[in-house]
Amino acid sequence: MLKKYSTFILILVATVFASNHQGVAQSTPLLDDDKELKLFIPEIYENRRAELMKKVEGDIIVISNDDAHNFHYLTGFDQSPAVAIIAPGSDYLYILFLRFTSPTAVLWDGPRHTINDAIHHFGADTAHFMQQLHRKLAELVGEGKSISVSPTDTRVNQEIENIRLRGNEVEVFSDLKETVENMRVIKDPWEKEWLAQAVEVTCDAHLRSMKAIEPGKYEYEIRAEIEYVFMKNNCTTGFPSIIGSGPNATFLHYPFYDRKLLEGDLILIDIGAKCNHYTADVTRTYPVSGKFTPEQRELYELVLKAQEAAIEMMKPGVGTLEPHHRATEIIMDGLYELGLITERNSWWQQRFYLHYAGLHYIGLHVHDPGHFADIVRSDRDGYLLDTEIKGRPMEPGMVLTIEPGLYFLEDGLDHVYTHFSQHADRDELNEFIRRVAPVYERYKGIGIRIEDDILIIENGNVNLSSGAPKSVEEIEAVMRR
Ligand code: GLY
Ligand code: MN
Ligand code: MN
Repeated sequence: MLKKYSTFILILVATVFASNHQGVAQSTPLLDDDKELKLFIPEIYENRRAELMKKVEGDIIVISNDDAHNFHYLTGFDQSPAVAIIAPGSDYLYILFLRFTSPTAVLWDGPRHTINDAIHHFGADTAHFMQQLHRKLAELVGEGKSISVSPTDTRVNQEIENIRLRGNEVEVFSDLKETVENMRVIKDPWEKEWLAQAVEVTCDAHLRSMKAIEPGKYEYEIRAEIEYVFMKNNCTTGFPSIIGSGPNATFLHYPFYDRKLLEGDLILIDIGAKCNHYTADVTRTYPVSGKFTPEQRELYELVLKAQEAAIEMMKPGVGTLEPHHRATEIIMDGLYELGLITERNSWWQQRFYLHYAGLHYIGLHVHDPGHFADIVRSDRDGYLLDTEIKGRPMEPGMVLTIEPGLYFLEDGLDHVYTHFSQHADRDELNEFIRRVAPVYERYKGIGIRIEDDILIIENGNVNLSSGAPKSVEEIEAVMRR
């Protein structure tokens, strides 16, 4: 059973402090009579469409589920293919187009949403099969309506191209995707409840995995325990589960499940249940034998200290990259003290250990979009160590992960020349390797990441994933058998 009740209390507490009570929250009950979180609330989608209409340039909006998450955000309609037209001032404000389903198709594939469902459940003012899309769109263009579209929406852009090929002028604004994605950054109360639900299921899966982990088992067996919990709760995986034991924990997104767990290993588990389309993203790192070795513990406590300091900072007004910079500072101080960095302020030595900025939004996608900072995410050299780049100020209603980590690849030092010959001369690189190698040797093969899901509220934050143990003492106590 989903633990709706405790989730409800948590969010109730969080939303009391939250500033972004949106109009719909007061008038729309989030729970069914039996205290189950509702799967679909038509007024929420209606309000989003109305809000969006005020923000875009076009007279009408046309979106298909090529742009899947944005389409879902606006419609809640969950079958493919589908197209929505939002056309203020025409006969029908909200028109849904869905796949024609013949009795034979139903015989093979089961029932699908009908025109009736589109109108009476999903709130469309009228609905048609996809075959009617071209005619309806041409009609609206004929009335001189301009259109807002997503640049990545192949189906809709193709339809518009077809209309143009027939000699009709169409004014098109490609502003839909970015506008919807920015709306998605601030979660409404119902979204916060579903995210909290997904996180709670994910924490339950972590707890179950902790009890299953033991030397001799395989990574795929741990995966089975985790995904069992997701499915038992009517959730799926929001992204492929990352389960890396021993040296596999040093690969950020280890995609296989094939290694036997050994006494003395760490196992890194980065997982997220997706419940009613909302995805959690929680990482813990456990000792396979139930007790951290002194070396593992040293590094683990360093990452944990950095992560806790970063969480402490997460509140409205603080830039989205500032907790990352704080975590980085703590980790680099620690590495310097351990002798893993020889020049505390060397850009390239720090970059050697730092691979990503450990914050991102979560929501319908595990890496939810929307403005985060004036950076190009892939230009990591440009911002990872630039503390002047602070990022967008956080606001109540954002939900972000925070996930610092340390990864000592077994052959990590072999790659120093490849990565940094542009940044330091050969003598400097050689000297670094000479001095660091004996220390690195103690830690090589260790990978650690600790990741929580944080809801920003008016006066701070709520750690939605605090149900998954993360201190050394808590972890060792749960795993003690
Ligand atoms: N699970 C992928 C990430 O942590 O971003
Ligand atoms: Mn993750
Ligand atoms: Mn993440």
